[in-house]
Amino acid sequence: MLRALAGDAVWPPPMWLMRQAGRYLPEYREVRAQAGDFIALCTNPELAAEVTLQPIRRYGMDGAILFSDILMVPWAMGQPLRFAEGEGPQLEPVRTAAAIDALDPTVCAGNAAPIMQTVRLVRGALDAHAQKTTLIGFAGSPWTVACYMVEGHGSRDFAAARGMAYGDPQLFARLIRTLVEATTDYLLAQAAAGAEALMLFDSWAGTLSPSQFRRWVIEPTGQIVRAIRKVNPAVPIIGFPRLAGPMLSEYAQRTGVQCLGVDTTMDLRWAASAVAPNQALQGNLDPLALVAGGMALEAEARSILGTMRGRPYIFNLGHGIEKVTPPDHVAALVRLVRTG
Ligand code: CP3
Repeated sequence: MLRALAGDAVWPPPMWLMRQAGRYLPEYREVRAQAGDFIALCTNPELAAEVTLQPIRRYGMDGAILFSDILMVPWAMGQPLRFAEGEGPQLEPVRTAAAIDALDPTVCAGNAAPIMQTVRLVRGALDAHAQKTTLIGFAGSPWTVACYMVEGHGSRDFAAARGMAYGDPQLFARLIRTLVEATTDYLLAQAAAGAEALMLFDSWAGTLSPSQFRRWVIEPTGQIVRAIRKVNPAVPIIGFPRLAGPMLSEYAQRTGVQCLGVDTTMDLRWAASAVAPNQALQGNLDPLALVAGGMALEAEARSILGTMRGRPYIFNLGHGIEKVTPPDHVAALVRLVRTG
């Protein structure tokens, strides 16, 4: 996977799946029940390391993604967060200057110490048993994390965050600056603890107009990438601006990430033409094709492999794995990708 991130057309391609540790796995559900709530699981290094390793043991994935959540950054800055069963994340909304100023980006990485301990435990286990598996650290991108911080919960269109970005751009820029600083420190701490690649999830990048996309997605992401490279020039960075559409090429060029995560809706042939030849692509199997399995899964996977052969590429889904995915379908996909 590190060779692919460095720009080599490795074949068969390395693979991992977004949300590969999660509720579709019975062994995850067992640990999750033991931990109690989701935040308790994210902040328990032994249990979080265990669930990070579950898909590696079961499928031999080439990437192990740290088990945590993008909302642990606001949590580590002191914004109250809980995961309500069946409702997704709930945060106390941040909508005023006072609420933004109360967030301290300099305490984020320190308060996230248990997460850094998870990284060290996983690193040790991979060094001992799976040396070729790349440990991927991650964070949400400032825009997507701000969406949840301002809205207070999930949403189809994040109208409160988008409204604040237009209505009071100075105030919104303060929140984004805070997130750029916290996220840079948090990712550098993960790399120092043993993460070999870093990924920025921008799940809601596709809700923005082009001008807003430049200002709130490309600019802050580029700032994070440049700040990380100043301290740690070696660690490759994957950017995933979900539903970016044709903005992908500007994102690729101006952020300078080594690898672009491609969502399910994007034509891979077009994506390949939109980024530099040495920028790797990662994606974009429809998670629902994996749920369906059989001929549908095989046809989709084969088409992706046929299109990506000959360029730097990492096989993945176009969004997170669905909870209803049969674990056997993942095993069938791994067999198919392993044969190239
Ligand atoms: O990929 C992995 O296996 C690593 C862990 C990981 C999780 N979330 C675990 C998780 C990663 C990389 C994420 C990223 C994340 N979290 C994103 C970006 C990617 C995407 O999906 O768009 C976002 C937007 C979040 C925020 C978030 N966390 C939501 C909206 C939810 C609720 C979803 C739901 O189905 O309930 C979560 C909870 C969450 N994060 C779960 C897991 C395994 C389910 C919690 C549980 O076990 O109860």
